[in-house]
This record gives sequence, structure tokens and C-alpha cells, in this order.
Amino acid sequence: MAQLIRIQEIADYEGAEVTIQGWLYHRTDKGKLQFLQVRDGTGFVQCVVFKQEVTPEVFAAAQSLTQESSLVISGTVRKDARAPGVPGGYEIGVTDLKVIQLAQDYPIQPKEHGVEFLMDHRHLWVRSQLQWAVLRVRATVVRAIRDWLDSHGFINMDTPILTPAACEGTTTLFATDYFGEPAYLTQSGQLYNEANIYAFGRVYCFGPTFRAEKSKTRRHLTEFWMVEPEAAFCDLDQLMEIEEQFVSYIVQTCLRERAKELELLGRDTSALEKVVPPFPRISYDEALEILRRIREQTTDEELKALLAITWGDDFGSPHETELTKQFDKPVFVYGYPARAKAFYMEPWPGRPEISKSVDLLAPEGYGEITGGSERISDPDLLLQRLDEWGLPREAFTWYIDLRKYGSVPHAGFGLGVERTVTWICGIDHLREAIPFPRMLKRVYP
Ligand code: 4AD
Ligand code: MG
Repeated sequence: MAQLIRIQEIADYEGAEVTIQGWLYHRTDKGKLQFLQVRDGTGFVQCVVFKQEVTPEVFAAAQSLTQESSLVISGTVRKDARAPGVPGGYEIGVTDLKVIQLAQDYPIQPKEHGVEFLMDHRHLWVRSQLQWAVLRVRATVVRAIRDWLDSHGFINMDTPILTPAACEGTTTLFATDYFGEPAYLTQSGQLYNEANIYAFGRVYCFGPTFRAEKSKTRRHLTEFWMVEPEAAFCDLDQLMEIEEQFVSYIVQTCLRERAKELELLGRDTSALEKVVPPFPRISYDEALEILRRIREQTTDEELKALLAITWGDDFGSPHETELTKQFDKPVFVYGYPARAKAFYMEPWPGRPEISKSVDLLAPEGYGEITGGSERISDPDLLLQRLDEWGLPREAFTWYIDLRKYGSVPHAGFGLGVERTVTWICGIDHLREAIPFPRMLKRVYP
């Protein structure tokens, strides 16, 4: 009896008779030989059907196979360095084949399709090798996030999705009707985690986050996943230490566990190998100086115009892209102008126009992957900020309470999963880093 196995464990079965269950990815017809590329969710393997070695029925079934037909296949595992798909080179010499369903006219052909077509067929596109590879890296990123936090004293606290107020600015809120009252899909669990640290010390929330981003960029989704660690008795320097350990662990875990997927994606992994602590740290002011130098040195007028920035503005993606090209590791930019960031950020001592904020920018032009800060711990200053930002005090009564009962310096950050996956995979667009992306012009499928 052939042993039922999954393709990812095929190396353990050299010489053995095995059965796999899966789908036909591609077939090459060489007359008496049929080369079947079969995938089963865990990997891809070549199955060779030789006319002389199978019954006429099995050979006919192999010849009839269309792309994405489902099948059960049995045969002998043999090592063949030239065989595509499995690292180390294994293939299956087929002895038996059963077709479960013959797929008809699968819309995604092995040719170039436009992105809109592929996005309309996202429910099928996820089967393609490169999409499969990206989403497997994503799963590993998610697990690495939890592993690191769970083993470094951070307790997982899930925060609400339906919220009464804005956290990250009122312009990107998704409003919904909550029994006659307005409620908003969460932009961030941070404010709730600031409550949870007083019970647990270090916490994190991890879930979907919503922003009504009205711009069409490669870096923005309207629904994305964010992990937000928050820690009591933590300042900006300690926060950066946590972040660099955390991000390095995520990257190194992917290099170790997803080498096959990164190879499929053609990722230059030497760039990722450099992602180890410490990361360079520069102030916002220093970043402006670097941008000024780049503008001075370039003859590219378009770039010059794109990089124009006045003190006080937040960076756009052209600024981040050019800045990160100066470093071969992720770089921390700290001390942003207060007005460019959120209401809750602690001011820089002696320089109230600056906040104790920090963004982590990924190398190779990938831009911001985390945003964080020290939080205001003084209740009066917090009330003043709410007024300045035009936010209703009533909605934040509970949040101000936190500053009355044992307030402590504290800090936290949020890391965007899709931005991180996009960078690790070396792909161009966030939309491929989540199974079913939500964007300005897309809620289907
Ligand atoms: O910088 P942001 O807006 O920070 C916060 O939400 C804080 N409350 C986090 C905190 O301190 N607890 O978002 C954090 C990260 C960004 O660095 C980016 O990686 C990701 O979330 N992000 C997005 N990812 C995809 N699409 C969008 N529209 C995103 N907006 C932010
Ligand atoms: Mg940010």
C-alpha cells in the first residue's frame, strides 16, 4: 500500500511508494511521457507518467488532465537533481492516477495577465506559485510575531474592532451605524492597550485595522493587519531596542523557514541577512539634512521636486524611499514634528514642537514598517492636546483616567504585517501580501 504523504515531506520517502492528493499545475506532453506538475498546498512536484509503466486507462487519464484538475496520484519517489519544484530534486514515477474532477477552461493561463484581471480572479490567483510563496511567508511572519512577543513577556490582549473615537486622525475613519449611534472600525488598538499595560505591564494586540485611505498607492490598504506592542515603564530608546530585536527575529525566521519560497520569489536574501541589531538611528532633522543633500546632488529634476519638503511635514513615500537607500539595514527616524503625528505623543523635553516618536523604515526603498512613540503621561497636557486636535473630550474620558491612577511613562509601536511581508518577499505592491486585499477601488472578491 502506498503511503499518503504531503509534498513537503517527500525527501523522507526516497524509493518508497507514495500517494499524493492535489491539483494539476501544468502538463507537458512528450508523446509517451507526460510530465505533470502537481501541487498539494505544501509544495510542487513533478510526476512522470511513462506509457509503458501504467495501464492504458491511467495513461489516457494523464493525457486528459487540464490545468487545475484535482487528482490523486501514486508512484515511486526518486531523486533527480534536475526535477523542478522540490528543493534537492525529487520526482514521482507514476504508477496510478485517479482524476477527481476535470477542470474546464481555468481562466488564469501560464501567460502574462493584467493585474486587474488577476485581482478580479484573486480567489483563483492565490493558487499560483508566486502568490502561494508570498502567503506562506506571511503565515510565518505572523507566527514569528507571536513567538517573539509571547516569549518576551508581552501578553496578547485583543482590542475592540468597533470603537467610539479616532486614534490615528479623523480623515480615515470608516463610520458604521451602531444602533443609531455612530461607531468606527478600529484604526488601532493602541489606546486600549494603554489601559491594559496597567494590568499586565507589557501587552500586544494583533488583528485587522481599518483606514479609509482615499489615495491609491502601493503601500496602503483600507484593511490591513497590525501588531501593536505596548509597554509600561518604557522610553523611546528602550522602544527602539525592542523593535530592532523583534523585526530582526521576524526576518531571520523567514530566512530560516521560508528559504524555498524566497528563492521562488527571486528574493536577494543577502539584503535580508544584514537585518540584525543594532539598526541606525537618525533624527527627523538629520533625515531632512540627508534629503537636502540628495536634492543638491541629483540632476533628476523630477526627483528634486518629489523630495521637496519643509520642516514640519511628515515624509511621503518618495522621501522614505530615498532615505532608506542610504542604509543597508532598517533605519529608525525619531523626533518627528508634533503636528505631523498623532495627538497622544509625548513632547521632546525642551523642544515641544517635536514628539518622542519613531518610525522604522525598511531598506531597499520599502519605507515605513513601524510607527511608534512614547505616550503623554500627564492628564492636563493630554486634555490640551485633545482640544488642539479638535477631538471630543467626552469620548476620551476613560483614556484620561489612565493618567490619574498610577500614570507611568510608557511607549509602544505598531507594525504593519503587509508592509513587512512585501519587504521580506521583495515584491512591488501590498495587495499581494494579504489573501483578499481591500483597497480604495476593491472589495471584490
Ligand atoms: O504609523 P501608524 O498609523 O501607527 C499607529 O497606528 C499607532 N497607533 C501604532 C502604535 O503606536 N501602537 O501605523 C503603524 C503601521 C505603519 O508603520 C504601517 O506599517 C502600517 O501600520 N500601516 C498600514 N499598512 C497598510 N495600509 C495602510 N493604510 C497602513 N497604515 C499604516
Ligand atoms: Mg505612521
